[in-house]
Amino acid sequence: MKGKILVTGGTGFIGSHTTVELLNAGYEVVIIDNLSNSNRDVLDGIERITGKRPVFVEGDCCCMATLEKLFEDNPGINGIIDFAASKAVGESVHKPILYYRNNLNILLNLLDLMPRYGVKGFVFSSSCTVYGEPDVNPITEAAPTKKATSPYGATKQISEDIIRDVIASGAPIKAILLRYFNPIGAHPSAEIGELPNGVPQNLVPYITQTAIGIRKELSVFGNDYDTPDGSCIRDFINIVDLAKAHVKALERMLGGGSDDNLEVFNIGTGEGVSVLQLIDVFQKATGIKLPYKIVGRREGDITKIWADPTKANTVLGWKAQVSLADTMLSAWNWQKKLRERGVM
Ligand code: WQD
Repeated sequence: MKGKILVTGGTGFIGSHTTVELLNAGYEVVIIDNLSNSNRDVLDGIERITGKRPVFVEGDCCCMATLEKLFEDNPGINGIIDFAASKAVGESVHKPILYYRNNLNILLNLLDLMPRYGVKGFVFSSSCTVYGEPDVNPITEAAPTKKATSPYGATKQISEDIIRDVIASGAPIKAILLRYFNPIGAHPSAEIGELPNGVPQNLVPYITQTAIGIRKELSVFGNDYDTPDGSCIRDFINIVDLAKAHVKALERMLGGGSDDNLEVFNIGTGEGVSVLQLIDVFQKATGIKLPYKIVGRREGDITKIWADPTKANTVLGWKAQVSLADTMLSAWNWQKKLRERGVM
């Protein structure tokens, strides 16, 4: 056993894929999740892939007593990967209190408890949203952060500041902030994947739900941007590749390899791909003609952003590996699996 890791939000999209990679790498995993945006079946998927079942605590990380009990019941936790957060950008505009309360309380509780229970390493899910609209692409970690365009984005910026201040105060912990670009796809086994609530807000679940007939057509939000084909450009990162970055981050902190007690890494492919290009990749990979129409711009969208992942490549020893075509195929296979299971 390499160590025991607490994964908050471990039955969610990124949490479940990261749990699989941790178990495959020989870690013991304790998940806490309140199942507000996921369900217990995810644990079965994790077990089918890895042959191991993580310890599962159903509970809310906003509650100190719940966390204290978790640490008492599961002694010897070495690291925490924190995925427990509300994450819908649009919803956050309408429910700012929920977002600030949830996302910040969870973080404060975990940081507060770490020294008490001797937990050394903390990996935080940050986001490329902290950069706002970049002045230059690809963007490096040294680029300035810009005022967030949503309460969700603000919670990520404030969380980064909180972690920075706690480390600067001399707390006996190390932290790595992973700034994700756009995580997409599913595990190649199609045992776990993304399960959005209601109408998907993100592009790839909307594409796969349209392809399978749940949605009539995809709306492409704008083709008049200052980009080669007029649609927005993003850095779409495969979910399994992204999950592996967390294992690397933990190994770096727990193995004593960190240069500083706080480090920041961009987790992206380094390739900018437009919305229209992504649709094309999906069509070619699956052979399905996707019905779509061009509509007006979506409020708050950034024109173009993609990562410079050099630091993650060289310092963390992590690199995106799965092709975009295979990633889109994995998203499609997961959508078909959901249909087979009668989920949607
Ligand atoms: C991508 C592109 C849309 C839906 C958000 C968060 C970010 C991150 C990932 C989250 C944009 C276009 C989308 C559709 C479309 N983290 N689009 N039709 O906005 O880049 O990033 O999700 O937890 O923090 O901000 O991702 O998938 O919503 O959009 O044309 O039906 O696809 O306009 O250009 P986004 P997205």
